[in-house]
Amino acid sequence: MSSIKSYLKKNRQRHLDEIKEVLRIPSISTDSGDPKEVRRAADWVAKRLETAGCTRVAIHPTGGHPIVYGEWLGAPGKPTILVYGHYDVQPVDPLELWKTAPFEPTVRDGKLYARGASDDKGQLMIHPLAMEAHLQVNGTCPVNVKFVIEGEEEIGSTHLEKFIKENKKRLKCDAVIVSDTAMFAKNIPSICYGLRGLTYLQVDVKGTSTDLHSGSFGGAVVNPAIALVEMLARMKDARGRVTIPGFYDNVQRLTVAERRAFASLPHSDRKFSRQVGAPELFGESGYSTLERLWARPSFDINGIWAGFTGDGAKTVIPAEAHAKISMRLVPNQTPKEIARKATAYLRKIAPKSIKVAVRDLHGGDAWLAPTDHPALVSAGAAMRRAFGKQPVFIREGGSIPIISVFEHQLKVPAVLMGVGLNDDQIHAPNEKFDLINFYRGIEASAYLMEELGQAAAAPQPARKKASKSRAKSNRKKVRRSGSRGR
Ligand code: BES
Ligand code: MN
Ligand code: MN
Repeated sequence: MSSIKSYLKKNRQRHLDEIKEVLRIPSISTDSGDPKEVRRAADWVAKRLETAGCTRVAIHPTGGHPIVYGEWLGAPGKPTILVYGHYDVQPVDPLELWKTAPFEPTVRDGKLYARGASDDKGQLMIHPLAMEAHLQVNGTCPVNVKFVIEGEEEIGSTHLEKFIKENKKRLKCDAVIVSDTAMFAKNIPSICYGLRGLTYLQVDVKGTSTDLHSGSFGGAVVNPAIALVEMLARMKDARGRVTIPGFYDNVQRLTVAERRAFASLPHSDRKFSRQVGAPELFGESGYSTLERLWARPSFDINGIWAGFTGDGAKTVIPAEAHAKISMRLVPNQTPKEIARKATAYLRKIAPKSIKVAVRDLHGGDAWLAPTDHPALVSAGAAMRRAFGKQPVFIREGGSIPIISVFEHQLKVPAVLMGVGLNDDQIHAPNEKFDLINFYRGIEASAYLMEELGQAAAAPQPARKKASKSRAKSNRKKVRRSGSRGR
C-alpha cells in the first residue's frame, strides 16, 4: 500500500470528525440565514486551510459573504491547481422531515447526514485533506495548490466574478478543480464535462387593488391566480416543448457520438422513476431521459402562491398572484437572452385585465468542456486508482455558473470530479454524503495531485478525438457495474 493510502486510512476518523465540525455551522447564505454563521464557516475553512499547510490564507470581505483564499506554492516549476468550492448551504425547510437535525451531523449506515454534507462542505474538504496528506507524508506536495472557497454559491455567486476578474494574477493556475457534482451512480466514478445554465425569474401578477369577496365580485373581475396559471400553462406544450418564441434558437444540438455515449451508460428509466417516486416519467419527446437532463433545456415552476392557503375555506379573490420560474439552459443559450424572450412572451400573453411584472433573479451560463484535455486524462487516472474502476464521462443537469467564468477569465480547463450521488438529497431534507465516497474522494484528489505533478515532468500527448471513443469506453468501463438506481 502506498504511504499516502495508508496515511489516509489511518486518519479516516479524524477526517470525519473534522467535517462534522464545519457541518455544525448553519451557514445558510440566503436571506433566511444568519450572516454571522456564514462568517463562522468562512473562519473555520480559513483555519483549516492554514493547518492543512497553506502558507497564505486570507478572508476576503465582499458586499455579501466572504471568499476564503488559501495557497501552498512550495513546488516551483510544478503545475498549479486552483480548487473551487462553496461553504454556504441551502435552507433546511421543511425541518420536520429531517430524521436528525440538519446541523447535528449524524452517521447512519455509512452515510453522514447533515445539510451541506454533499453540497458542498463535505466534498470541498477532500482537496485540502489530500494536500495535507502529501505534506504530512512526503513533506511536500506534487503540485502547487490555490483554494477559492466562496459563501455565495447557493445565491448565485454574487461577488465571486468580480473577485476573479480583479485577482487574475493571484489566481493564475493550470487547471480549476471542483468537487460539487454527483457520480453517475454508486461505484461508477465519473468525470463531468458539462453542466446546464440557468435563468431564474419571478413573475408578479396584479389584478384588483385589494382582495375581494368572491361572492360579491366573483365572475365580474379577473382572478389573477387564474390568469397566472393560464399564462404559465402556455409556456410548455403537451409534448414537453417549451413554447417561448425563439427559446430553442441557439440550442447546441447533440451529436450522434454523444447520444451514443449517453445511451451506453447503464441508465434505467424504470429505476429512475422508482427513485424519484414518479408514476411515469415526462419530458420532451424524441429525447431519452439522460438527454433531457443533460443536454436539453427545460422550463419549471419552482413555486407558486396566491390568495388563501390556510386551513379551512375563505371565499376570496386574491389581488395578486406570484410564481418563481426557472429555465435550465444548454450551450449556446445565454441567461440574458432567455430572460428577455421569456419576459416578452409573458407580457404578450398576459390578459389586459392584469398587470404583470417580471424580475430576473439570477442566472448563469451552461458549461461544456472537451474531454481530451490532459488535465482530464489525469483526473481519470486518479479516479481509477481511488475507486478501482475506469471513470465514465457524464454531463449533469445542475448548474455551477462560476465554472465558465473561471475558464474564461483564467483561460484554463475546469475538472469536475464530483463524488456525490444522485440520491444525496441535496437541497432537500436528510441530505447525506456516503462516507466511502468521502474517503475515496480524498484519495482521488491526492492521486490527481500526483498525476498532474508527473504529467508535468513527462508531458503526455493528449488523446485524439476522445469524443468519438467515448461511447465505446463508457461501455467498457461500466460493463461490470450494475445500472444506477436513479
Ligand atoms: N452543487 C450544485 C450544482 C449541481 C448539483 C451540479 C447537482 C450538478 C449536480 C450547486 O450548489 C447548486 O445547487 N447550484 C444551483 C445554481 C445556483 C445559481 C443557485 C442549481 O443548480 O440550482
Ligand atoms: Mn454545490
Ligand atoms: Mn447547491
